[in-house]
Amino acid sequence: MTSTFLRRAVLLAAIGLFAAGPVVLFMGPANASNYNPSQTTRKNAGTPNSSIVVKNSSGVVIKYGNKYITYTSPPSKLDKLGQALFMENCASCHGAQANGFPASGAAGAYPDLVGLGPATIDFWVDSGRMPDKDTAAVEASRRQPALTPAQAEAVAAWVNSLSPSPGYPDIPTPHLNRANEASGAALFALNCAACHTIEGDGDALAYSTFAPSLRHIPAFQVVEAIRTGPGNMPRFTGNLSDQQVDDIVKYVTTEIQHPENPGGFGLGGLGPVAEGFVGLLLGVGFLVLICYWIGDRS
Ligand code: HEC
Ligand code: HEC
Repeated sequence: MTSTFLRRAVLLAAIGLFAAGPVVLFMGPANASNYNPSQTTRKNAGTPNSSIVVKNSSGVVIKYGNKYITYTSPPSKLDKLGQALFMENCASCHGAQANGFPASGAAGAYPDLVGLGPATIDFWVDSGRMPDKDTAAVEASRRQPALTPAQAEAVAAWVNSLSPSPGYPDIPTPHLNRANEASGAALFALNCAACHTIEGDGDALAYSTFAPSLRHIPAFQVVEAIRTGPGNMPRFTGNLSDQQVDDIVKYVTTEIQHPENPGGFGLGGLGPVAEGFVGLLLGVGFLVLICYWIGDRS
């Protein structure tokens, strides 16, 4: 009698523990009131929590960073121009308040842009992805930009003015003269090559998405991509310091964009398959020519 009771009690306690676990886990995030997914608390991670912080007269951070990368907020005097450009180029999809509610069509069909931070807006416009030309595509592709860099900055300024507290990261400037290319190569192999390949040529990912080639991307856009994580790319924040990002960008803009091929032709950097193919074509081709010549009966 007591033993059955005991067994039941133990069983009940075990079930209770299993059931309560997830409840406790779900309660956790609900208490984190100031949680902002685009910010980390770690220093040097694209946040104003840096060694250099410049504020304007009303106490808003307008520039921050360190000797490796500085991040600059687009000036608020551009807000008006930015709003006009946004109405003309973006509001049809993202809505007049940039919150993803277009005047016509279903709410939530397009991303909400409020609070995304100037670097995200700047990246999507400067890389020509936005304004989107093909909304049916799985992934917006890089194109000739429709807006100039100054116009992209203005749009970023206006979108940033819509959120109660400014979004981050701001628009980055990497200082490549302080970067270490060798460390960048190692970090690239570890963090980027899995998707973009070790040569930076890009590759297909799941569900028709792809990691693009990095051969012609300007340095500041490489920082923007690393810090904001466009589309299916992860956002690297706390796990890579600004010094490490600077190193990676140096490697991408030198070795990947201007490869040296001390052995002769690079052959697209595709490795033994391409090399073997060229070897066969030239070698066997030459032998066939010789055979043809010596085998000629006159
Ligand atoms: C024709 C519709 C259309 C127009 C016009 C358009 N967008 Fe988009 N926008 C989209 C779609 C669709 C996506 C999602 C694309 C993807 O995930 O590849 C998107 C994504 C974005 C993102 C990324 C959001 C995120 O959370 O990562 C930004 C930033 C953005 N748009 C900004 C703009 C700006 C700024 C303009 C004007 C210069 C603009 N868009 C014009 C349809 C549009
Ligand atoms: C999980 C796969 C993945 C990893 C890891 C990854 N990326 Fe990406 N990357 C992508 C995808 C996918 C895109 C395209 C996103 C889009 O356009 O929607 C992209 C876009 C980019 C772009 C923009 C290219 C363009 O055409 O405008 C740059 C630059 C970039 N990545 C650099 C890096 C660097 C540097 C690293 C390492 C720190 C890295 N990526 C790690 C998948 C990845």
